[in-house]
Amino acid sequence: MPSKYTTIHYHSYLDLDKVLDAQHPRSLEKATGKPAHDELLFIITHQAYELWFKQIIHELESVHAIFKQDNVKEKDIGNATHRIQRVTEILKLLIQQIHVLETMTPLDFLDFRDYLFPASGFQSYQFRVVETLLGLKNDKRITYNSSHYASVFPETQQTHLLELEQQGSLVERISSWLERTPFIQYSDFEFFTHYNKAVKMMLEKEQTAIQESPYLNEKEKEMRLMMLGNSSTYFASVLSPDSHAQLKKEGKIRFSYQATVGALLINLYRDEPILRMPFMLLNSLMDVDEHLTTWRYRHAQMVLRMLGRKIGTGGSSGYDYLAETAIKHPIFTDLYTISTMLIPRSQLPPLPKDVEDALGFFYK
Ligand code: HEM
Repeated sequence: MPSKYTTIHYHSYLDLDKVLDAQHPRSLEKATGKPAHDELLFIITHQAYELWFKQIIHELESVHAIFKQDNVKEKDIGNATHRIQRVTEILKLLIQQIHVLETMTPLDFLDFRDYLFPASGFQSYQFRVVETLLGLKNDKRITYNSSHYASVFPETQQTHLLELEQQGSLVERISSWLERTPFIQYSDFEFFTHYNKAVKMMLEKEQTAIQESPYLNEKEKEMRLMMLGNSSTYFASVLSPDSHAQLKKEGKIRFSYQATVGALLINLYRDEPILRMPFMLLNSLMDVDEHLTTWRYRHAQMVLRMLGRKIGTGGSSGYDYLAETAIKHPIFTDLYTISTMLIPRSQLPPLPKDVEDALGFFYK
């Protein structure tokens, strides 16, 4: 009978023959003159990224599996949160790695850049998988060269990306889970009626404060009242299903109406023990979004430093394209909308005793 535990050597366990034999600087193969010293750094940095992308995909797939269930267990929410937090930690590392690559100067890069053409970060399949698993939709992507972003991949990968998009992203899975948030209506407590009242009071108070302010002139008052009107549009999106449907139609919101209400309840009553973990989960998703956006900015800055205004090897405008993705490609934008709709704790309707007990795991 074979033993359950066999011995193995560090080198073979990590398949280091393959990993360490996977760096082939083109300048070494092609150059008639001197090979470019910094090309090894360039290759290893990209390979390290791809390995981390693999780990991120592993984490995100497991989180998908959890939220795919019709009934998500409480203990699974803890696991999901933990894995999403791990993704953020990896992203922090990926942002840091840019500093290492920036020790290569633009002139050093030019020693081998010509050999890279037309290879480009556009061809990172795993990066597109990460974006798609999280929820970046094809119709939200900035296009370049007027071609589909996936056209650079072989057909099997294009099909897989399409399937991933159709099977539902994390945004959609989280939205379905939020729709099932309990306690929106519990015994005699109607969260909505209370929230509605509190919002109206808060907006009226802010309106009066602007109108009566001795420090603002008429023009400034008019401007501020208009801005207040804009934020009340978002309040309306949760107070009225019709306004929500309109914002959804305009592509400003992705969560369903019920999910938005669920997320709002979780955020407002996040100090109640039963809502703590869901709150941490939503927070961790914002962390991922924030760090991915920071990576996009940092990568764009590095590109500006390295290439100036040269176009990319993949045919985009380079810096301008990348900087625009940082603005337009955030994914969990609904969670930021929730922040617009928060009201101060002091104005939160107090919970009836039975609701507070239920939210606090109270056992007689
Ligand atoms: C000297 C360093 C680098 C330069 C000059 C550079 C340049 C560029 C440029 C110009 C683009 C736009 C596409 C194009 O026209 O080619 C791009 C896209 C991209 N690069 Fe880099 N890059 C560098 C390092 C990296 C590293 C280390 C990674 C890590 C994997 C990376 C990943 C990507 C990805 C994923 C995209 C696609 C971004 C998107 O479409 O949202 N790049 N890069």
